[in-house]
Amino acid sequence: MEKRELLYEGKAKRLFLTDDANLVISEFKDDLTAFNGEKKSSEAGKGALNNKISTELFKLLDSKGVQTHFVEMLDDNHMLHKKADVILIEVIVRNIATGSLTRNLGIKDGTILPFTLVEFDYKDDDLGDPKLNDQHALILGLVEHQDELDKLRRVARQINAILKPYFQNIGLNLVDFKLEFGKDSNGNIILIDEISPDNCRFWDIESGEKMDKDRFRQGLGGLKVAYEEVLNRILGK
Ligand code: C5P
Repeated sequence: MEKRELLYEGKAKRLFLTDDANLVISEFKDDLTAFNGEKKSSEAGKGALNNKISTELFKLLDSKGVQTHFVEMLDDNHMLHKKADVILIEVIVRNIATGSLTRNLGIKDGTILPFTLVEFDYKDDDLGDPKLNDQHALILGLVEHQDELDKLRRVARQINAILKPYFQNIGLNLVDFKLEFGKDSNGNIILIDEISPDNCRFWDIESGEKMDKDRFRQGLGGLKVAYEEVLNRILGK
């Protein structure tokens, strides 16, 4: 597969065209950003860890019948995947309250939620990714019909039902995570982007230690060691 011109550069990945119009290549960068790009850094090897973790999780989801954009991992920093039109909704799934949920609603940090919460944020950096309800999403034309919003919620819950016990098995609480979806060339809604400690929160079940990007957001240090530990547990090492 030939890597061709740069299509788009995001905060964590570069997207390249290929010689196949339906396939693109993501290059996972070592850059770290938080607070809508206000805090920036870089950690050598972070991109490769996220590529490897995402690859394993996409394979797992695929084996359970979730439609994703994943095709194959090409090398340490490159993933081949289907081209999709991005739906500008960040789907946030929460099992335990922390982060913006505790800030916005005053729910005590660490509270186990009575049921899995699925939220929508508008993927718009200029606006600071505000919360969306279904009517906002429809007025903005982010999807065409209510049933597409229903599908995003349904698939997000299905993914949580797969990933939560999977991570529990390897000693990690899946606290919350962000998913992105797109439409493939047939108009099917598929899971895109990445699933990694950059966009999930993992708390070690025994120690409570944070094993995700909160180490960077909160200046805790040890980010790469934590990401490596997540990958090693996934790989059963
Ligand atoms: O910051 P907040 O508590 O809303 O984040 C919820 C989850 O969504 C966290 O796992 C965070 O890593 C992820 N997230 C993300 N990208 C964003 C916002 C949140 O990956 N722009």
